[in-house]
Amino acid sequence: MYAEHEFNTSTFAARVATSTGTDFYSAIVAAIATLRGPLHGGANEAAMKLINSFKNVESVEKGIHELLAKKSLVMGFGHRVYKESDPRTPIIKSLALRLTHTHHEDSKFLIAEKIEEILWKEKQLFPNLDFYSALVFHYLGIPASFFTPIFVISRLSGWSAHIMEQRAHNRLIRPNAKYIGPAIKDYVLLKDRE
Ligand code: COA
Repeated sequence: MYAEHEFNTSTFAARVATSTGTDFYSAIVAAIATLRGPLHGGANEAAMKLINSFKNVESVEKGIHELLAKKSLVMGFGHRVYKESDPRTPIIKSLALRLTHTHHEDSKFLIAEKIEEILWKEKQLFPNLDFYSALVFHYLGIPASFFTPIFVISRLSGWSAHIMEQRAHNRLIRPNAKYIGPAIKDYVLLKDRE
């Protein structure tokens, strides 16, 4: 599920870098620089931090309401393209559930489900792939600091395909900007400024 996902931010960064004619490795570095941010691939690590911040299911309601009152982003929720649900979530969630059976331990899963329930009720926000991936990685015994690197390893296939496609039909990616700031002003000499 992590292997490829259309024009997500890191893939776009890899495409932009490639369009300059840079080498393959540099394009991957551009993608990694983008993926590590918490709004993109770094969200799975941040989601684990959130789940770990609750001792039990009972404490979730108050904690999430406090976050929402502060207008904080809840990591692992929402998506720029999907607006009602992330089609990858049911698959990764069922894997997380299966792992709770293997481990005979479901406290973190129950906390995660409670977070999901409250965010849907309060904000119609749904978990994206990163939310339950965090739990899957956790139950697999992978330290949280490796969550995003695992995402990188998986997405390398998608990035590579995009880089090859960009190279095959390359044109420099250089968008225009439309200036909408203040209109032109007269220059005031330093000595005449107040
Ligand atoms: N937690 C709290 N509020 C959120 C939210 C979240 N995770 N995601 C969106 N919202 C809020 C926005 O702040 C906005 O509120 P407003 O109308 O009061 O300003 C509203 O929901 C609509 O947001 P929307 O325009 O749909 O989101 P976006 O396209 O600007 O942002 C993300 C998309 C992914 C950047 C955003 O959902 C996010 O930051 N999520 C957390 C990070 C994450 O999980 N990233 C991995 C994505 S796969």
